[in-house]
Amino acid sequence: MNATERMCALRAQIEAANTQYYVLDAPTLPDAEYDRLFRELQTLEAEYPDLVTADSPTQRVGAKAARGFSSVIHRVPMLSLANAFSNAEVIAFDRRLSEALAGARLADAEIEYVCEPKFDGLAVSILYRNGLLVQGATRGDGETGEDVTENLRTIRAIPLRLPLDNPPAELEVRGEVLMMRHDFERINQEALARGEKPFVNPRNAAAGSLRQLDSRVTAARRLSFFAYGVGVVQGTDLPETQAGQMAWLASLHFPLAHERRVVQGVDGLLDYFVWLGVQRASMPYDIDGAVYKVNAIAAQTVLGFVSRAPRFAIAHKYPAQEELTVVEGIDVQVGRTGVLTPVARLKPVFVGGVTVTNATLHNADEVAKKDVRVGDTVIVRRAGDVIPEVVGVLLERRPMRDLLEAISPAFVMPTQCPVCAASVLRIEGEVAVRCSNGLACPAQRKQAIRHFAQRRAMDIEGLGDKLIDQLVESAYVGTPADLYRLDVATLVRLDRIGEKSAENLIAAIAASRGRPLSRFLFALGIRHVGEETAKALARHFGSLDALLTASIEQMSAVVDVGSVVAASIAVFMVEPHNRAVIEALRGVWTDGEPQARKAGGLARKVFVLTGTLPNLSREEAKSLIEAAGGKVTGSVSKKTDFVVVGAEAGSKLSKAHELGLTVLDEHELKRMLEETG
Ligand code: IVH
Repeated sequence: MNATERMCALRAQIEAANTQYYVLDAPTLPDAEYDRLFRELQTLEAEYPDLVTADSPTQRVGAKAARGFSSVIHRVPMLSLANAFSNAEVIAFDRRLSEALAGARLADAEIEYVCEPKFDGLAVSILYRNGLLVQGATRGDGETGEDVTENLRTIRAIPLRLPLDNPPAELEVRGEVLMMRHDFERINQEALARGEKPFVNPRNAAAGSLRQLDSRVTAARRLSFFAYGVGVVQGTDLPETQAGQMAWLASLHFPLAHERRVVQGVDGLLDYFVWLGVQRASMPYDIDGAVYKVNAIAAQTVLGFVSRAPRFAIAHKYPAQEELTVVEGIDVQVGRTGVLTPVARLKPVFVGGVTVTNATLHNADEVAKKDVRVGDTVIVRRAGDVIPEVVGVLLERRPMRDLLEAISPAFVMPTQCPVCAASVLRIEGEVAVRCSNGLACPAQRKQAIRHFAQRRAMDIEGLGDKLIDQLVESAYVGTPADLYRLDVATLVRLDRIGEKSAENLIAAIAASRGRPLSRFLFALGIRHVGEETAKALARHFGSLDALLTASIEQMSAVVDVGSVVAASIAVFMVEPHNRAVIEALRGVWTDGEPQARKAGGLARKVFVLTGTLPNLSREEAKSLIEAAGGKVTGSVSKKTDFVVVGAEAGSKLSKAHELGLTVLDEHELKRMLEETG
C-alpha cells in the first residue's frame, strides 16, 4: 500500500469510528486504537502536506449531529485538546510554550499551570441569559451540537439560575457530563433485571442517557456534571487567570473537580500526573488523564490555537486501559474454592501498562452474553490492579462470520472438572459452577497453597507457581501444613531443583513461622475473609482459640464482619479437614492480645436505634452497646448522644438532624465499640 492509499484507508476507518462514537453512541474502537490511527494519519499528512484533503478527519473535530434533536451552533467553537502520551511530550509542550511566551515577554521563569482531571464523559455547553439557563447543547462536531436543554436541566449538579443579583447578559459554561461509577453499577443492574443489555462503561452510559428523547429517562439516570471553562461571555469581566475563572464558577455553584491544582513549571505538571494517578482508583468517576492549561489568560491569548486545539493546553493521558486483540483459545481454570472460570487466551497485547495474555470471561453466562469465540477480535480492559477482562467482541471483525459457527462453535461449560474430572455443581442462586471434589482436586489444592504462601499472607519467598505445581503433583504437599514438614532431601528429588535453592526454600518456609494471627487467618483462605477482615478479627479476638470458640453473634460484633462473613467462618471452622490442618499448623502463627479496650468507654452514653441495620438485629446492637457501658432509649431528645440509623429510618432520623445529634451507621457503631467498648 502506498502513502496515498494508506491515508485514504485511515480516513475511512477514522470516519467510521467517529460516526459510531459521536453519532450512534456505540463505539467500535478503543480510544487507544483510535488515537493511534489518528496519529498515523497526522504523521503521514505532515510528511506529505500536498496530500491533505479538505475532508480529512484531521481537519475538523468530530462528526455530524444526529437526527432527532435540533441543532445548536456554537458561537465560540468547542475545540478539542492535543494529547501527550509520555513525559517527553509534556516536556516538549512546556518548552514550546516557554519559547513562545519568552518571545512575547510574558514568561521568563517557569510557566504557571492549572492541572485538572481529564473527565471521561461528554463535553456540553450551558447557556445562561440574564442568569437563567436557556440552552444546553452537546459538543457535536465542535461547530454544531445538539440541543439537549431539557435533558441537561434534569442534572441536579447544574444550576438552573445563577445566584447573582446582577447576572451577566450572557454566560456560557462548559464542562463534562458523566456518570458516577456507583450510578453506573445501579443502572446496569436495573437493565439486567429487565433483561436488557448493560452499558459497557460509564462514558457510554452517560452518552446514552444524555441523548434520550424522553428527558424523564435522563432524569432517572442521575447524571453528574463538572465545569471546566467558559465560552460566550457578555456583560461581565472575567478574572484574569484560569484558576480565578474556575473559582468564580465555583462561587456560582458549578461543581468543579476536587483534584484541581495550580503548579509551577514542567516539574509541577509531572508531579501532578503521578499524584492524580494515585487518586484515580478511589475517585468516584472515570478519568483518562490530566489536563494542563496555562493559568494566565493573557498568555493563553498570545499562544492561541492550532487548527484543532488550543496551543495553551494539553491532555496527558494514562496508558490505555482498553485495547484490541485476538482470542486464541478459551480455557477453563479451577480456582481456590473450586469455581470454574472460562479464561480467554489472547494474542499478547500491551494494556494498562502491562502485557496481557489472558483475560477472564467470568462465567458461562458472560461468555454466552458476549458471544466470544476463538478467532474473534475483542476489547480487553485492564484497569489498575483489576484482573484483565474481555469487555466485548467486535462482531464486524469476526473472520468469515457465517463459517465461524461451524469452525468455532459457541462456548459450553464442561460438566466435569477439567483438572480432576469430578462432576461439576451449579450452586443455587449463583451463576458460578464448582468442581465437587473440594481439596481432593489438585487445582484447588494448588490454589490454596498459592494463597497461603503469597506475600500478603504467610509470605514464603521463592515458593512460586511452578514449584507448587510440582509439590502437589508429586504428592509431597497436599495442605499448607505439609510445607512445614518438607526437607532438603525431599526437595532435591524434584525436577530442576538444586541443593542451594532447596536450602533457600526450606529457610523461607522456616522464616514464615511466627507470622501474626491476622496474616494466618487471611492465609487460610476462608471465603469472604480478606486482609482487612482478618486484621479486624485478629484485633478483636487476639487468639485463634478465642475465634474458634466464638458464636456467630460474637463474630458479627467485629467491624467489617456481617452475618454472611460470620457464617462463612463458622462453616470453615467446623469442617473436620480444615480443623485438622489448623491443628497441624499450631506453632506456625503467633497469637496476640485482644486489642486493649478502655473500660466503660461508652459509660452513660445514650443511644437511640432506628431503621434496620444491615447485619445486627436490634437486640444484638442493644446488648453490644450495653456491654460497653452505654444505654439504649426509645426516643430522640436533647439527652441523646448518638442515633444509630439503618435502612428506612424515619422520623427519628429527621429529629436527630434537627437537634444536630451525631448520627452513626452500623459500621461506625461497630468501630466505636471496637475502639472504646
Ligand atoms: S478543556 C479548549 N478540560 O476533552 C479546551 N476538556 O479533547 C477544551 N475534557 O471535548 C477543553 N476533561 O470533553 C477540558 N478538564 C478538562 C477536560 C476536558 C475532559 C474533554 C472535553 C473535550 C475533550 C478534548
